[in-house]
Amino acid sequence: MAKYLVTGGAGFIGSNLVEELVKSKENSVVVIDDLSMGLKSNLPDSKQVTFFQHTITDFKFMKTLLLKEKFDYIVLLAAIASVADSVERPFETHLVNQEANINILETIRKNNLPIKKLYFASSAAVYGDGLELPKRESGAVAPLTQYAVDKFATEREVINFGRLYGIPTVCGRFFNVFGPKQNPASPYSGVLSIIMDKLNSGDQFTLFGDGSQTRDFIYVKDVVNAISGLLHTPEALHDVYNIANGKQTSLMQVISMLEDATGKKLNYELGEPRQGDIKDSVADVSKIEALGFMTHTPLDEGLASYVASVQ
Ligand code: NAD
Ligand code: UD1
Repeated sequence: MAKYLVTGGAGFIGSNLVEELVKSKENSVVVIDDLSMGLKSNLPDSKQVTFFQHTITDFKFMKTLLLKEKFDYIVLLAAIASVADSVERPFETHLVNQEANINILETIRKNNLPIKKLYFASSAAVYGDGLELPKRESGAVAPLTQYAVDKFATEREVINFGRLYGIPTVCGRFFNVFGPKQNPASPYSGVLSIIMDKLNSGDQFTLFGDGSQTRDFIYVKDVVNAISGLLHTPEALHDVYNIANGKQTSLMQVISMLEDATGKKLNYELGEPRQGDIKDSVADVSKIEALGFMTHTPLDEGLASYVASVQ
């Protein structure tokens, strides 16, 4: 019997993780999500899942919950996940993306809560626009936005709380994740969910920049496997791992792949590049691969599964 807490569990990555966790009848999962981006309907209809629509910035609520439930595993996914939104609302996003997570760490520390492992979702955004490609965990970081600053700071806090106070923790830097249940409803949503939405509706997509920017797109099932692997691999401790496919693809290339997969043509216009946008991103994935559990769904296969899930 293992008890999980997944913050942001009604969101894109969170709900895919919860779906996987409940496949084992031994697991019970508590989800906290304020539904600012997540949807309750993303969650499996299962007695193993308990859902609270609540904000993680309510420190008292989170403390009471942590003390009462004594979780085995804690997965910190709740965040305002948009880089561009953090440029518009640096303080509000900071409260969620950093402060609320420190409150959780502090509650664990002060009360000696006996957790087995805590996982924090960091981001490739921490690397910024460094010249070094592929991006390595040991390489330089240059956070360009509030989002990236908060991810890097929280990642360091998660690792240092772990080392200093003997709390088992681990972090993953996700690159650009796509797949079923990514919510396209906001202008700040992940680009592939917006493109898929526009391909289906025929509405116009705005491409910020010229489409030559590159990303390392990873299918959500591989991300779920990686989180699970990091939680259950004892040597993955007080450390950070790139979670990516290790392949560099331009926005133009991925648009063309999605057009092929859907048989539809994207109607698009060009707009100014976004402030704080990263030009090129691709990961060195050798560190996580060495742990032996990483899976890499080829991009065309991941896109085909994604298309099948939304059509
Ligand atoms: P998402 O927006 O679908 O999930 C985040 C969830 O957190 C949402 O359901 C949202 O409603 C919830 N949330 C936001 N503010 C909250 C608050 N104050 N209290 C409680 N819940 C709150 O995004 P996602 O893509 O599933 O991202 C999950 C995590 O992974 C985030 O931490 C994000 O920064 C990180 N990440 C995502 C990607 C990616 O490409 N999707 C890449 C790197 C890192
Ligand atoms: C994404 C994630 C972020 C994560 C980071 C890690 C989301 C919303 N963002 O940020 O959480 O930490 O990867 O690498 O999941 N674009 C357009 N038109 C649009 C939207 C976007 O051209 O309508 C462009 C952007 O300018 C950018 C690219 O598409 O160049 C990707 O944008 P986005 O999906 O928001 O991802 P990142 O900013 O890379």
